[in-house]
Amino acid sequence: MARKSIVTCLTAMMLMATTTKAQQAPQLRPDNIDDVLKAMTLEEKAKLLVGGANKFFSSSAVVGSEATLVQGAAGTSPEIPRLGIPATVLTDGPAGVRIDPTRKGDSQTYYATAFPIGTCLASTWNTELVGRVGEAIGNETKEYRCDVILGPGMNLHRNPLCGRNFEYYSEDPLLTGKIAAAYINGVQSQGAGVSAKHFAVNSQETDRTGVDERVSQRAARELYLRGFEIAVRESQPWTVMSSYNRVNGQYSMGNHDLLTKILRDDWGFKGIVMSDWIGIRRGLTTVSEVQAGNDLMEPGQPAQVQEIIDGVKNGQLDIKDVNRNVRRMLEYIVKTPSYNKYPYTNKPDLTAHAAITRQSACEGIVLLKNNGTLPWNSPFSIPHSQSIKTVALFGENSYEFLSGGTGSGCVHPPYVVDMLMGLKNAGIMSSPVLTDIYRKYIEFARVKFQAERHPGKWFQTEMMGQQKYPEIGLSPIAINKEVSKADAAIITIGRQAGEGIDRDIATEFNLVPEEHALIMDVCNAFHAQGKPVIVVINSGSVIETASWSGYPDAIICAWQPGMEGGNSIADILTGKVCPSGRLTMTWPLSATDHPSTKNFPLNDDLFSFSNMKNDGRPVPGHDYTNHEEDIYVGYRYFDTFGRQVAYPFGYGLSYTTFDYSKPTAKVNGDLVTVSINVKNTGSMAGKEVAQVYVTAPRGSIEKPAKELKAFAKTRELQPGESETLTMVIPVRLLASFDEAGSQWISEAGTYNVQIGASIADIRATVPFKLAKTYTEETTRALKPQQKLNLLKQ
Ligand code: BGC
Repeated sequence: MARKSIVTCLTAMMLMATTTKAQQAPQLRPDNIDDVLKAMTLEEKAKLLVGGANKFFSSSAVVGSEATLVQGAAGTSPEIPRLGIPATVLTDGPAGVRIDPTRKGDSQTYYATAFPIGTCLASTWNTELVGRVGEAIGNETKEYRCDVILGPGMNLHRNPLCGRNFEYYSEDPLLTGKIAAAYINGVQSQGAGVSAKHFAVNSQETDRTGVDERVSQRAARELYLRGFEIAVRESQPWTVMSSYNRVNGQYSMGNHDLLTKILRDDWGFKGIVMSDWIGIRRGLTTVSEVQAGNDLMEPGQPAQVQEIIDGVKNGQLDIKDVNRNVRRMLEYIVKTPSYNKYPYTNKPDLTAHAAITRQSACEGIVLLKNNGTLPWNSPFSIPHSQSIKTVALFGENSYEFLSGGTGSGCVHPPYVVDMLMGLKNAGIMSSPVLTDIYRKYIEFARVKFQAERHPGKWFQTEMMGQQKYPEIGLSPIAINKEVSKADAAIITIGRQAGEGIDRDIATEFNLVPEEHALIMDVCNAFHAQGKPVIVVINSGSVIETASWSGYPDAIICAWQPGMEGGNSIADILTGKVCPSGRLTMTWPLSATDHPSTKNFPLNDDLFSFSNMKNDGRPVPGHDYTNHEEDIYVGYRYFDTFGRQVAYPFGYGLSYTTFDYSKPTAKVNGDLVTVSINVKNTGSMAGKEVAQVYVTAPRGSIEKPAKELKAFAKTRELQPGESETLTMVIPVRLLASFDEAGSQWISEAGTYNVQIGASIADIRATVPFKLAKTYTEETTRALKPQQKLNLLKQ
């Protein structure tokens, strides 16, 4: 045989052998996971547990192939082609799909809808509407070839200074859990997944990758974990993200108590846990993460794969633990659009989604004050409705409107409707002189800001979200000149915050002197001519209001309402939509009124990844944070201890009025059914949120004065129309956590149901009796390592 034909023959034989081997290797299907698991080599198993291509490292540095990463997405799970296992793509979240809007050499754009931030969504108190937002986000996730959106953000607003509060929902766990479940069910109904994050107790940004959150088992279970528990039980998220911080001494990603005992054994979580984006973590081995039940390491590094392989070989890591996590990964993968070869278009319907974001923002906007000036130009028979044709628009953020926060939670939308545009679309003109001043100032401020930016502050770049520039001072002369030209004035007060840094009190929670002066000078000038002044708050979190709220005629908290923001605010101003947003957190008189502020890192410009103050000894608020306020977070503190606030939890005004009548509460087995009739007694159509607070009988466990146990929003009620709202409270949700017995207890006795328009505005009460004490045992988990000096009544 000629040499050439021998080679050809050998090659053919080799090819055949490879093909037979490939044919023998099972290809992943939902019904052959056991076979695939059996066919996997140790190397393949280890590889599947470590993230692939990601936002930090290109393919050469990681396990997966770069081609699988959608540009700008956060990361991937790796592919194993031999077994028909595709890579899956993970993208931030939570306020929309965060991918790069443009790509080199590609004329197509990849903008995504910027939906309202978490706080604004939760302020709708409308689970059905949040579900629709979830559906739209799920749709964009898969149309842009992603599989999982890294959200919802579910940490509690423990303190108003947390930089990422904008991504989170509330200071209350029930509201957090219900809104998150609605979002998750919406996303997952589209065949895309979520990652509920950051699990758990990640309530500050300062030193977030090192801080030990020291918290009582009771506060952990009742507050910081309860929202996650509700979401897991009511929506089974495909994935949960373990947080950067430690909880009672142990990093979350290596915390067996959190990731296995609580999440899976107590709550029945069936999905995968992925770590927050840390890679190899100082002070923790990948082996211990696998053992704890952290299924996917993000963003992966090759050394982690090797560590898993070595761990199994040297007996440190039981192959059973590896197999368990791999099985979960395979169960996750078969659900994904990538596995199911979803024919993505890269062209989601941004116009349809703009309508959803506009509507959801309208419902999340909270009217804080109205002396009767709003709504303007109302088509309804509102007695004092004024005709406003021209406004003087003050404040830098009227023109540089903030649609969302900064960091991984920012989205790149095709546009942002600012106040100027929103008003114009509603037929209201604004002053050209002010537009000229502010537009030119913003141009200048942008250049100056970038020139002066600290090189370490990665979040202060355009790709990390819109930046906040200092407010401009306008002299009373300039302001006075505007009065005769306009029918009213609007001042937008903006605040920006985000990942990696917490807010300070002096310049971020409080107003700065320029802002105070602007409010005073504009109010003086316009009021002298009998013209109204409205303040619009464009912030992801709570700010100080008590020192200035007496001056303007109305205050609208618009949050950061997504890319249609200006239109949504105009809808509220003109009464096209009757405000129905309600606060999901207390607005204190001052930031120090929260008992948690004592243990919160303060006035600090430290970059969270470094710990410059640390001279070897642990620093409070940095290396550790003691949750001494215990269960008294937010209204649980202010209401129980009778402290005055600026605006209470659940507060929000309407343009119409509602009557509450005929409350009932009936116990049937382990369920309490509460109902209330709500009637629109005003002159405009609107929606009302009925909030159900419950005071428990005085038993063996100290309790907050009352706690939110259910809520419901009416449909839009016409004047004179009423609706009976029925809400079901499982008895297990009435329970307090008894640490000694490691169990939930709802004690027998009389409970008082209080239904109101806020925690401070109770409109109807009704008692019910629990004949028998309810108990539910839990695993013993998360014991604090140090003694905490806990706040008591
Ligand atoms: C953030 C997560 C985010 C991840 C991926 C982390 O820095 O804490 O919320 O999902 O990055 O971008």
